[in-house]
Amino acid sequence: MRVVVLISGSGSNLQALIDGQRHGTLPIEIVGVISNKTAVRGLLRAEQAGIPAIALEHTAYDSREAFDTALRERIDALTPDLVVLAGFMRILTPGFTRHYEGRMFNIHPSLLPKYQGLHTHRRVLESGDTEHGVTVHFVTDELDGGPPILQAKISVHPDDDEKTLAARVLEQEHRIYPQAVEWFGRGRLRLHQGTVFLDNEPLGPSGYLIDVTHS
Ligand code: GAR
Repeated sequence: MRVVVLISGSGSNLQALIDGQRHGTLPIEIVGVISNKTAVRGLLRAEQAGIPAIALEHTAYDSREAFDTALRERIDALTPDLVVLAGFMRILTPGFTRHYEGRMFNIHPSLLPKYQGLHTHRRVLESGDTEHGVTVHFVTDELDGGPPILQAKISVHPDDDEKTLAARVLEQEHRIYPQAVEWFGRGRLRLHQGTVFLDNEPLGPSGYLIDVTHS
């Protein structure tokens, strides 16, 4: 399965996919990495793994549509089966998301539909929630809002700050993103009329739930 990964920063989720490909646990070939920012660590990770990587700076385009059109051309030239947003911090136009419907994933550090948008860990702490987590979902034109595929739920500890919470969530990200990509790569996962199916069984509104609140 040909995969294109879009990033904006550190690329630790990209690294988890590179590692899965390298160790043979993921049936994928990452055929390209595109960042909307230059000089980010994720681009280095791609280069070190021998994956073609480019920066396509959104600031060089005068509209969201113009950037998304250029981005789409770059992605489609790589003929991917799946597009993976891994910390890609851009709002996408509806035309773009429709083009990749059913073949584009995003990962978001919250138990969606809670806490769409930014600063999820801070908002969880401010709300006094006792549980938090991460969601992999199909991308639709709703920001951080498409149908969930997989969620990992963790406990919030009384002494947590943003940093400790983010680190524990990230650990789960590196576990569930490769898992969702593997399911897709093995043909086990599909989106049909807004419902996610795993092995032909419809998943519930949270997707497949991994509960690590007690570990
Ligand atoms: C991850 O925590 C990911 O869930 C988040 O950005 C981080 C990227 O880390 N994505 C979003 O907030 C999307 N709305 P990484 O660059 O180390 O993979």
